[in-house]
Amino acid sequence: MNFASDMPTKPETKHCAKHGDYQVRYLPMGNRFLLNEQCPKCAAEANASREAEELAEQKRLASEHLRRQRLEAGVSVRNCDVGFEDYFPNDQFQAANLKTIQEFTQTVASGGRGNIVMTGGVGTGKTMLACAVVNALLRKGKRCRIIKLIDLIREFKDTWRKGSETNETKLIKHFSTLDLLVIDEVGMQFDSDTEKLFIFDVVDGRYQNMLPTVMISNLDIYGVKQAIGERVVDRLREDGGKVLAFQGASQRKSFEATVSAMEAVKHA
Ligand SMILES: Nc1ncnc2c1ncn2[C@@H]1O[C@H](COP(=O)(O)OP(=O)(O)OP(=O)(O)O)[C@@H](O)[C@H]1O
Ligand SMILES: [Mg+2]
Ligand SMILES: [Zn+2]
Repeated sequence: MNFASDMPTKPETKHCAKHGDYQVRYLPMGNRFLLNEQCPKCAAEANASREAEELAEQKRLASEHLRRQRLEAGVSVRNCDVGFEDYFPNDQFQAANLKTIQEFTQTVASGGRGNIVMTGGVGTGKTMLACAVVNALLRKGKRCRIIKLIDLIREFKDTWRKGSETNETKLIKHFSTLDLLVIDEVGMQFDSDTEKLFIFDVVDGRYQNMLPTVMISNLDIYGVKQAIGERVVDRLREDGGKVLAFQGASQRKSFEATVSAMEAVKHA
């Protein structure tokens, strides 16, 4: 069977219901040959769809990886897919802030320095924008974290527990060597000098390593100084630190708006 000597001189014609007539193919292999009776167009279509499936799978895996990275970096589920294009400035100041933050992101992406303190009222997009920065930088392969001040302190206190896998020294090293650290919700008063020292050690470590830090607070810059200490803020200022104030009404949808929207749907 399939000996080369049996190979027909004229290829056999077959019919595909979809593509019409085609000729079967013979592939000589030494003194034998392989017979391919499949419609070539059907074969090409099957190939293309397999490749498309593989590509889609690769894309899915890549986006899953990115999502995991973002969550690990401290980005909330809510802000996991957030980008600069999702932020709509409400006034010229917010537009200028957005521009500064985008420039800052580029600077950090290329290994540059700079610090930002974002201040302003609730719901003005500070956390969202900081997450957009982190999301963009993770894409560029940078090591980033965004963490609330209270959680940062908790991580330090957790090292005191028996059996903790890490210790204060390691934690300071971790936080002071990240390509970007964002400390959110700065404003609460510290319970002790030890807590104050943690934040100082982290910020000073980053200052010594000349690495960028972002701080976010509902307080103004004077309030921030009072809350976390002049020496901390002074270090942020020295390395080309910028204070960006966010003003205006909260962009979180109000309860009233949600309720009336629900009523509208009910009565529609
Ligand atoms: N300018 C904006 N364009 C689009 N969405 C916005 C804007 N500002 C805020 N938002 C949306 O409003 C909500 C609140 O934003 P975000 O949590 O970033 O505020 P915040 O300034 O961090 O507030 P807080 O000080 O209370 O933490 C989010 O859902 C965010 O996506
Ligand atoms: Mg916030
Ligand atoms: Zn076919």
